[in-house]
Amino acid sequence: MLVYKRFLIFSIISIASTQHINDVFVTLITDVSTSLFPATRISCHLCNSISDDEILRLSWQFSNHRLIHTFRNNFDHLDPLIYDNLEHKNLYILDMECEYSIYALQRANASELFSSPKKWLLLGRENHWEDLVIKETFKDLGVYPDSDVLMARKMNDSEDFDLISIYRPSSVREVIIEFRGNWSASGGVRLNDRRVASIRRMNLQKTPLKSCLVMTDPDTINHLTDYQHKRTDPVTKATYTWINHMIKRMNATISFEISDSWGYKMPNGSFSGMIGMLQRKEIDIGGTATFFVAERIEIVEYVQLYTKTRSGWLFRQPLLSSVSNIFILPFQKRVWIAIGVTLSLVFPLLYMAMKWEYSQNRDSKSAKYWRELNPANPSFSDDFLVILGAMAQQGYSYEPYRVPSRITTLMVLIFALSLYASYTANIVSLLQTTTDAIKTLADLLYSPLKKGAQDVIYNRHYFKTFTDNVRKALVETVEPKGKKGSWMSLDEGVRKIRNELFAFHGELGTMYQVVQETFLEDEKCGLTEIDYLNILYPLLVIQKRSPYLEIIRNGALKIKESGLQDREHFRLWTKKPECYGNTNFISIGFQECYFPLVIMGYGTLITVAVLIIEMLWRKR
Ligand SMILES: *[C@@H]1O[C@H](CO)[C@@H](O)[C@H](O)[C@H]1NC(C)=O
Ligand SMILES: *[C@@H]1O[C@H](CO)[C@@H](O)[C@H](O)[C@H]1NC(C)=O
Ligand SMILES: *[C@@H]1O[C@H](CO)[C@@H](O)[C@H](O)[C@H]1NC(C)=O
Repeated sequence: MLVYKRFLIFSIISIASTQHINDVFVTLITDVSTSLFPATRISCHLCNSISDDEILRLSWQFSNHRLIHTFRNNFDHLDPLIYDNLEHKNLYILDMECEYSIYALQRANASELFSSPKKWLLLGRENHWEDLVIKETFKDLGVYPDSDVLMARKMNDSEDFDLISIYRPSSVREVIIEFRGNWSASGGVRLNDRRVASIRRMNLQKTPLKSCLVMTDPDTINHLTDYQHKRTDPVTKATYTWINHMIKRMNATISFEISDSWGYKMPNGSFSGMIGMLQRKEIDIGGTATFFVAERIEIVEYVQLYTKTRSGWLFRQPLLSSVSNIFILPFQKRVWIAIGVTLSLVFPLLYMAMKWEYSQNRDSKSAKYWRELNPANPSFSDDFLVILGAMAQQGYSYEPYRVPSRITTLMVLIFALSLYASYTANIVSLLQTTTDAIKTLADLLYSPLKKGAQDVIYNRHYFKTFTDNVRKALVETVEPKGKKGSWMSLDEGVRKIRNELFAFHGELGTMYQVVQETFLEDEKCGLTEIDYLNILYPLLVIQKRSPYLEIIRNGALKIKESGLQDREHFRLWTKKPECYGNTNFISIGFQECYFPLVIMGYGTLITVAVLIIEMLWRKR
């Protein structure tokens, strides 16, 4: 085969009596194939009346024009591939005056060789190819709008040819003959319409097409165009509108079937749902946009018209107080160490001052009042209580009397005052702070948030297909083995996001709409989304090798250009709600006071334990 690629070749299958084939034809073919079809590989079927020498001469001329070619002057088969599979470079040439030419057309029809991107040039060398004859010849052939069948027909005895294109809008419509221009030996190809086929053949003459809508809720059928109940099946509603625009543009009609599934690969290899219908060619167009996933690429053709559907985890970043102990956060570690050092210095100083004070002039008259307050020799626990009282701003019963103890207590009090002021100021702002700690799927997995997912068929399908550990572990949290999973409706999920520490997986646009309707202004702050399925936007799908591919692609571009796509996006999907500042006051609940409560709880337990030990001690 490589040899074929490199060299211009020819082959002669059989040789018969001579009949002159004009140089005119060589010029016609080379003109058409260089100007109209930029083809470089030609499979040429001529009549068996053409001689060996004639073909040699033709081949030589083709080679001069750098066209790879094969010649046959009888019919045994049509090459489905000419040399290689660069199909768009292939041109079939068929001489319509041969006795086998109608049979050859039927064979081409049976192997679907008229479909895009293969090209055909038919030579009507005698002037008997009237419109009616052509219509009769092509009436059952599959020359649909994607075909490229050009006929050069001789009109009268001059050397001029009409160039006509032959196609049928669909299998239920008549043959249409398009007049494309003409060709003459002196003037070459003159076209009167240079528009591409997908524009010229847009009018399908009310061809009935079939489609299928995917609905997760049967009630959607009643609300396809009224923008009610936007949160169920927005993809179906958007695509339905676009398809209707497109069908109108194509002058076709459409009927819809209903399915409850987009379609997934079944164990035996065939697909279910809408994709299955496309695979079995029961419908022409998929009525609902479909995720772009690898396993479907071979089954259906994707068209670049997408809906802005995104799925992902949505949650509110938890308050700082619910994930970490905010009571140690106001000061940096160094400050806490400095406080510890200061206290451990002050403790012996005050002890010494108190001891010294007690031993000095207790009996003087001026110390009478002081003696009443401090009847006993101060101990370590007295010292401890004084410092604790000062640091906790709770007061104590000790009354410093002499200068050293007064200096020490004053120092402790001022120290405690300044610490206290900065500590309380900080803690108030920390109480209202949300974390932005959860940024990745792994963060989410190890966070205290509970998880749930929207109960729709594609979530259930794709959740089973993950292979990486974090995603699998997250699926496990939604659907623990052997237990009923936390699959729920969208409304319930969003309500939980609002009221609990909860992360919900679902369609983001619809979730935002519920958020917009039900959340208070300050609750919209800290909303975070994380992508999970890792799938592209859903796209429009049609049958593989559909004859309407180019027309539909053009329609899709038009819908995009004219803003009709954005219109549906705008009306059916809600953007992420904005957070307009945290202006609300924060109410402090048990959650925020968790750590002090824990400390108090342990304190109480220790006291009870000490009490019991004391009682046992006394008994002994
Ligand atoms: C051409 O092919 C189509 C299907 O591809 C078939 O329905 C039709 O009957 C064929 N026509 C002829 C004349 O064989
Ligand atoms: C659509 O097709 C019908 C049937 O062939 C035809 O009568 C009508 O004029 C077409 N409409 C347009 C807008 O081309
Ligand atoms: C594959 O299985 C489904 C049911 O599981 C069945 O409906 C379908 O016909 C099967 N397809 C083939 C090609 O066997």
